[in-house]
Amino acid sequence: MSKFLPKLTITTALVATLAMPAFAEKLGLGRAALPEEIAAWNHDISPNGEGLPVGSGSVEDGEMIFSENCAVCHGEFAEGVDNWPKLAGGDGTLADKDPLKTIGSYWPYLSTVYDYVRRSMPFGAAQTMSDDDVYAITAYLLYSNYLVDDDFVLSNENFLEVEMPNAGGFIVDDRPETEYTIFTEENACYENCKDTVEITRRATVLDVTPEEEGTETVTEAAVVVEEAVEEPVDTPAVEEAAQEPVEAPAEEAPVVAAMSVDPELAAQGEKVFKKCAACHQVGEGAKNRTGPVLNGVIGATIAHVGDFKYSKDFTAAHDEGFIWTIENLTEYLHKPKAMFPKTKMSFAGLKKDEEIAAVIEYLKSASQ
Ligand code: HEC
Ligand code: HEC
Repeated sequence: MSKFLPKLTITTALVATLAMPAFAEKLGLGRAALPEEIAAWNHDISPNGEGLPVGSGSVEDGEMIFSENCAVCHGEFAEGVDNWPKLAGGDGTLADKDPLKTIGSYWPYLSTVYDYVRRSMPFGAAQTMSDDDVYAITAYLLYSNYLVDDDFVLSNENFLEVEMPNAGGFIVDDRPETEYTIFTEENACYENCKDTVEITRRATVLDVTPEEEGTETVTEAAVVVEEAVEEPVDTPAVEEAAQEPVEAPAEEAPVVAAMSVDPELAAQGEKVFKKCAACHQVGEGAKNRTGPVLNGVIGATIAHVGDFKYSKDFTAAHDEGFIWTIENLTEYLHKPKAMFPKTKMSFAGLKKDEEIAAVIEYLKSASQ
């Protein structure tokens, strides 16, 4: 857990600084943060239960919430989909050559599970779950690691009674006191060192994290848009532009080809699209990931990618000829589940109209 330490230290130092009004004002750094502002932001939960909110949640509820919000990446049973992290299993593997470190096999404290989920999940829609939902999810994660029964209810009251299997597996790192002083350059104990060091494989090739391609294609697409926009002097008529073979191949959906793009707004949209990029790719060479490729989606019939497995809601709407007009897409991106209650897109939605307009502009530009 030492990877969490530096972050905590910075947080504490920052909070300490901002909480000293005189100091902040002397530096001319705005005003001192109010205690409520600090409290809203500084919500660490400690292994001793400090910081736990009042609330509860059952394995049963957790199973449903997990299935809707987490299973696309972590699997229905927390077993992990593709290369997304596994949250269950791995018991007894820690001493193996290739250990499987999960909440069940590795994490020493349940408080970290609660804190992590409440702070950062679902990926791309962090801090959208209620405290009770997080209790329920935490209970479900215990259940999927066979640590509690299916009728278990977790609450702030019984939280500390749950002991994690690897609670005793961590020791205090006392090497600075016990070992470092013993080693000197003269008695360094390395043997058989190689003369030269070579890089034999790259992490990207090993596919250790789910790919996030498209960064280059995105910039390329943005460049193309800028060129296209500088041109209207030569090709004022939109239809003419659509016929021009270089810019718009014949198979391209005519709706997209004929759409004009505001490059500034599209550039803002590219930033908003980071929220989508965990699941979607767009542009040249884009592939289906957790979500479908979004090339040409604007103006297309819903469920527009042939080889993507859509939800029943989507396929039914496809059969009825539902079109992704800008209006429809705006409504969907605002609150996906309000429009299609069973949509597989685990995304809470974009709150601001400007963000939605920008990301749509970006999708237009990147599809061209
Ligand atoms: C879009 C995919 C996605 C969704 C949906 C998602 N996660 Fe995650 N989750 C991730 C990724 C990626 C990581 C690794 C993040 C990192 O290491 O920085 C992760 C890490 C985690 C971890 C830490 C695992 C470990 O061993 O370090 C937990 C716990 C977790 N997620 C729980 C949840 C829960 C609960 C939900 C639903 C409320 C959820 N996730 C939804 C992608 C997702
Ligand atoms: C957690 C993964 C995830 C995130 C994040 C996500 N999506 Fe999706 N998206 C999906 C999935 C899965 C579908 C398919 C929905 C279904 O079948 O019900 C989808 C469908 C769509 C569709 C319809 C595609 C079609 O062929 O009909 C559009 C458009 C879309 N998403 C745009 C976005 C945008 C824009 C964002 C970011 C603001 C975003 N999505 C964020 C997973 C995600």
